[in-house]
Amino acid sequence: MSMRFKLAFIGFGVVGQGLTEILLEKKDMLAEKYDFHYVVVAVSDIMKGSVYDENGLNMGEILSLVKADKKLDEYPSGMKDMDSLATIKDTNADTIIEVTFTDVKTGEPALTHIKAALNAGKNVVSTNKGPVVKQVMDLLKLAEKNNVFYGFEGVVLAGTPVLNLAEYTLAGNKITGFKGILNGTTNYILTRMEEGMSYDDALKKAQELGYAEADPTGDVEGLDALGKVVILSNVVLGKNIGWKDVERKGIAGITIEDVEQAKAEGMRWKLIGSAEIQKDGSLKAKVWPQKLPLSDPLAGVNEAINALTFDTDELGPVTVVGPGAGRRETGFSLLIDLLNMNRKLSE
Ligand code: HSE
Repeated sequence: MSMRFKLAFIGFGVVGQGLTEILLEKKDMLAEKYDFHYVVVAVSDIMKGSVYDENGLNMGEILSLVKADKKLDEYPSGMKDMDSLATIKDTNADTIIEVTFTDVKTGEPALTHIKAALNAGKNVVSTNKGPVVKQVMDLLKLAEKNNVFYGFEGVVLAGTPVLNLAEYTLAGNKITGFKGILNGTTNYILTRMEEGMSYDDALKKAQELGYAEADPTGDVEGLDALGKVVILSNVVLGKNIGWKDVERKGIAGITIEDVEQAKAEGMRWKLIGSAEIQKDGSLKAKVWPQKLPLSDPLAGVNEAINALTFDTDELGPVTVVGPGAGRRETGFSLLIDLLNMNRKLSE
């Protein structure tokens, strides 16, 4: 029997807005093709305010308000001023879309939001890397205990589906390592710098395009890529590492002269994240800028595009190339989770 999910957004930045656009534009197709039905009952954002209507909000109107830099208080009806935890616990929402800012070191405030939602018996879909870096196994167990769904496809490579690929399509393989370009902002900056743009201008542009984190130091210093190395190591390789177990260096020290010199040598700088299970079972995990020859497939991956190669026992290396950041691209990852949730809960 098909259900009608009642969704609540916790955080309503570019990713939440990107998903909303997709949900609005594809509403009929999602209902007809995937039997997915929804209504958004609440939006709560620390900067933009909050609004709740148990019968559903007009999300077109919410998007117009936000795009005009107005507060959600100006929405003509509904309850205002509910904070994130009240929105999670005290509304009729059954599915929480957690898209607040990411802090990979503490996981907060997202970790508290996700635990509150799972404990309240609500499904969670989230692109937030922090909680996955910190406590993925505990959160998955909590979801199982409460008989609800927790999806986080977008935490690595945005809507380019690597976690689902590893779990479902590559199932039956032994995956022993991975290597890839895991951060869109730094790849975008390196691409622009090769064309002569300054580091600062390229970073500003990456922020405008919605690739960078709220605090972009996490991108350029390699912390965002490190978070993804931790997630892939734990979720795909079955390890239990933390962010201190990964060696890290970002791209902040790479000058325009370094980029030009590499170009003259037929090489290209890339920020590479990798992990490999060693013979003794330990893991070697790293985020490091590497100067690659142009013949290396990863050297050909430019702009904000990401790439990830899994080392598998049956197929050898399997590579996925696709967007790793961006408004709709990350918004789409939440749709993957929502459709998986619909399939699972309709079984
Ligand atoms: N800031 C991240 C990036 C977003 O640039 O790749 C996706 O995690």
